[in-house]
Amino acid sequence: MTILENNLAFSRRSFLMGSIAAGVFSPKIIFAKSKDEDFIDNLIANMSLEEKAGQLSIFADNTRSNSIAINPAQAKVGKDALISRIKNGEIGALFSAKGAKGAREYQKIAITQTKSKIPLIFGADIIHGCTTQFPIPLGESASFDIDLCERTAKMAAFEATAVGIQWTFAPMVDVARDQRWGRVAEGSGEDPYLGIKLAQARVKGFQGNDLKSEYSVLSCPKHFAAYGAVQGGMDYNTTEMSEATLRDLHLPPFKAAFDAGALSVMSSFNDISGVPSTANPHLLTDILRDEWGFKGLVVSDYTADDELIHHGYAADGRDAAKKSILAGCDMSMESGLYNKYLPDLVKSGEVPLKVVDESVRRVLRVKQALGLFENPYRSLNEARELKDQRTKEAIALSREAARKSAVLLKNENNILPLPKTGKKIALIGPFASDKYQTLGTWTIFPDFDNAVTLEKGLRAQISSQDLIKTAKGSHITEAMDGGIEEAVQTAKWADVVVLCVGEPEKFSGESQSRVSITIPQPQQELAEAIAKTGKPVVVVLSHGRALELSGAVKNADAILCAWFLGSEHGNGLADLIFGDYSPQGRLPVSFPHFSGQQPYYYNHRITGRPQQPGQERFYKARYIETDNTALYSFGHGLTYSEIEYGKVELSSPKIGMNEDLFASCIITNKGNRKVREAVQLYIHDMVASITRPIRELKAFELVEIDAGQSKKVEFRIGAPELGFVHNDLKHYPEAGKFKLWIAPSSVTGEAVEFELL
Ligand code: BGC
Repeated sequence: MTILENNLAFSRRSFLMGSIAAGVFSPKIIFAKSKDEDFIDNLIANMSLEEKAGQLSIFADNTRSNSIAINPAQAKVGKDALISRIKNGEIGALFSAKGAKGAREYQKIAITQTKSKIPLIFGADIIHGCTTQFPIPLGESASFDIDLCERTAKMAAFEATAVGIQWTFAPMVDVARDQRWGRVAEGSGEDPYLGIKLAQARVKGFQGNDLKSEYSVLSCPKHFAAYGAVQGGMDYNTTEMSEATLRDLHLPPFKAAFDAGALSVMSSFNDISGVPSTANPHLLTDILRDEWGFKGLVVSDYTADDELIHHGYAADGRDAAKKSILAGCDMSMESGLYNKYLPDLVKSGEVPLKVVDESVRRVLRVKQALGLFENPYRSLNEARELKDQRTKEAIALSREAARKSAVLLKNENNILPLPKTGKKIALIGPFASDKYQTLGTWTIFPDFDNAVTLEKGLRAQISSQDLIKTAKGSHITEAMDGGIEEAVQTAKWADVVVLCVGEPEKFSGESQSRVSITIPQPQQELAEAIAKTGKPVVVVLSHGRALELSGAVKNADAILCAWFLGSEHGNGLADLIFGDYSPQGRLPVSFPHFSGQQPYYYNHRITGRPQQPGQERFYKARYIETDNTALYSFGHGLTYSEIEYGKVELSSPKIGMNEDLFASCIITNKGNRKVREAVQLYIHDMVASITRPIRELKAFELVEIDAGQSKKVEFRIGAPELGFVHNDLKHYPEAGKFKLWIAPSSVTGEAVEFELL
């Protein structure tokens, strides 16, 4: 028996015995065989060119009842046609459907009825949860909680693998500094350091310690690269930047994700200075493979290879396929161009066979790493599908994530928390009771029936139902007949108004770019009318990006950023509003004063004409209408306590190039309750050969601190934190003076100075 036959014998038997049967074989023996590179060489040596192109092609599966259409529809393939394509070896992977049964059916065909009997991989965009949803990634990033982000990704993998998904197109690690871009909702926001930490956490959560585990999914950081820098914040647009900036700002979260073990990556739709990523050899080969030694596979974004034609980078489909594969894009998503053109491109000598073989090898290695050769039915287990969804643990985690992700922007006169007894609450606004406005973008298998609205969450905790009255007041983007009048009456009845306004869920995510990042006018009018009642107002904002706040919304007594917090949206918020927990969230994106400031980010360069506070506006880097600051800057967020930051102490005022600096400060909880404080360390390199941002986050820590307690918080920084990418494309620090802050946000704290010798 050859290694291949041997493996297939195991596979067939494991199928006959049910999906959990793999456990009865000795995993050690199987691991030893499938790990062998000879096994892959042997497969490749016996594959036709058509089969090779098949392994390099992934398609959306629209044949199952649980299939979802999330992209512009391509040619709809019926079930018979799909089966025949699988049998012909034209498909290496399927995505966008769930269900262990359907996947097993297709897997069985792949491993028994095709010539090379190679298993498929089943993928999907499991971005922030599968059946149980967690906060949108931007919201969750606001928790500044590395451990939380790892745990939610792990739970997402647990649920995804129970419904037949082995590969997730996540995390999105694009640094996004323009809030007009709707996809900012999918990532970690404007800061590369936060992006690095959360990219690592999410990859670890998805992939676990063992990629072969029944409970792990292959992770696919995306979109490689610089997609977050699309000009004007318009999705799919062009980007333009120096390679030093690319490496300094946009590539580090990817590198961190690969260092954490991510074995696939998705190329982006955009071009960088005229070269589309999907056919960019410098990006996909020079940097990714040669420099970083990435061993996994590159998959194109959805039809991104075909789009090279629209970019004006490829003449036709054949040219697009050729340029993509030669650049290092191993797998083509949805366009079918590799199936159509690769065999002939090899025969004509335009694409060397060894290039195709190398891409096939990468795909097969990933399948091997997932354990698919020894157990093609891994994670395709119908029994798990019934029991491993919406477990008690998943729901509790979703609630924990929701309350840790909300950000308290202001809280005048400590209006929050509200009591559960004795105060009448008017719950007003189109987001208060709408379950379709809780889960957020990229919820591909939504479970709206179990989604908890704010009304439901508050009612579950209030001492008497009579203490809450609701009034919608306005539709989300349109006025509502009589809505404002009713809402005003409800406000007058109450002691306090909880006003739920924001942008609809559909305004963020892919292809949702805005020119004006404001709250729709009818809701603004509702807010103004409510303000006139003179009642105290707590605004609860729903949003997939930072917003421009104005008028009565901006001037409300309290503002709580609620993003779209997932399945437990309302319960998590109620935990905060009633004060069972204190908010811990910090902004991962800056709220500008005006939309026209975009792209606005805290870590901007200073310019030659910065405006100092109190200076005249003329001949300064600012706008006529506003200075160049944020309304609420990155890192900002209040707790229900008051934390005082002591003076920053340094281990030394001068350090050598290879030495570490220890920076510490004492924080004291001056309030009367325990909180989790996100302590942040920023630096500024004062004179550099490439000018550096006004501040850069270089460390943070969530510190749990009791009422009245003082704690010393200490950070260590060294060359990696002090360095940056130079024009020679190398990363190293420059000698000279630095400023350093330990502070509760990117615009607070007292700087201390030190010198790098
Ligand atoms: C998106 C990707 C996604 C892919 C597959 C594309 O439109 O840009 O983020 O993973 O579709 O659904």
